[in-house]
Amino acid sequence: MIVDSTHTRWIILSVAILVVGLITYVPYHATTPGGPGGGTFQGLIYGFVGTAMMVFAGLLGARKRVRIWRLGRAQEWVRAHIWLGLISFPIILFHAGMSFGRGSLTSVLMWLFAIVILSGILGLVIQHVLPRMLLDRVPRETVYEQVPRVIDQLRQEADTLIESVSGVIDHPEQPAFAEASSSPGRRAHDLRTRATALAVPVEGSDELKRFYLIEVRPFFHPEGIPEGELMGAKTSSARFGRIRLLLPRDLHDTLRDLETLCEERRELALQQKLHHWLHGWLLVHIPIAYALLLLSVIHALMSLFY
Ligand code: HEM
Ligand code: HEM
Repeated sequence: MIVDSTHTRWIILSVAILVVGLITYVPYHATTPGGPGGGTFQGLIYGFVGTAMMVFAGLLGARKRVRIWRLGRAQEWVRAHIWLGLISFPIILFHAGMSFGRGSLTSVLMWLFAIVILSGILGLVIQHVLPRMLLDRVPRETVYEQVPRVIDQLRQEADTLIESVSGVIDHPEQPAFAEASSSPGRRAHDLRTRATALAVPVEGSDELKRFYLIEVRPFFHPEGIPEGELMGAKTSSARFGRIRLLLPRDLHDTLRDLETLCEERRELALQQKLHHWLHGWLLVHIPIAYALLLLSVIHALMSLFY
């Protein structure tokens, strides 16, 4: 659940602020000559309170970046952030006398504010719904930072598998991805592996080797999310099915093992995608939130002093 009992204290605080705002707004709206606005005494109070809540929400970012500010648990800050951020919107609407901005700066402010709130809500949905939706499709959890290394290991396993039936594979146009950075120990291991590769290829393994080098090996590139037939479970299975028809029985087990390695690569690609979605929305939320805070300060100073 997005909202559990640990959110309660923040919900109570935020709803209390909202209710006080609403109770004071109704008579203010009815009795203010010329209608309510940000420049009246009460309007300014809403402006200050709403801005304080927004700045507090913005501090979440600062807290994450400035290590000395590590007060309180991270989850607690996110909860406070969500609820105070959410309620700051109606409070600012009270400040503006329910206008969405009549001047150009205030209109821009309100639109940026709306985008920050909506992207925040969207982000929460992505963070909580997406992993659950994909959980049964991503059975093996790998820490995201380790994904490229795991993919490279799969590629090495696949190389060894193919070499065990076709002899050392020669792939000048497809250098081993880790070779540039691999340690001497790793290279020695690679050489040993190759030394154990068959001197005489199994009959019919040429077709398998060609398929591997042209279609499968690029699929094990550790960076980026691959596309193409092998990316879909059904299309991949069909492709492997067609290759199986071309191979002698002796190679069917090897082909099945290769298909399993491809399945693992597909799972990792799904995790890579998931990670992009989980964090991509912050690229909208964070810069717009900071722009909003900066323009809010400019608006406050301009309206108070000019
Ligand atoms: C005044 C309004 C808001 C401002 C100024 C603001 C600003 C920010 C900033 C600067 C971050 C980045 C933290 C980091 O560095 O990772 C952030 C993260 C986030 N915001 Fe907001 N935000 C606001 C409102 C909201 C609202 C209304 C929601 C949800 C309903 C929300 C949900 C989130 C979430 C889920 C994160 C990611 C936290 C994490 O998991 O680390 N925000 N916000
Ligand atoms: C301490 C912070 C703030 C102060 C001192 C302040 C001050 C003012 C003042 C004096 C006005 C009346 C001037 C006029 O009607 O042209 C006003 C109006 C307004 N303010 Fe603020 N403000 C603050 C924060 C904010 C924030 C954070 C937002 C939105 C994100 C905002 C949005 C508006 C809007 C929409 C109006 C209505 C005017 C219009 O519709 O153009 N204010 N503010």
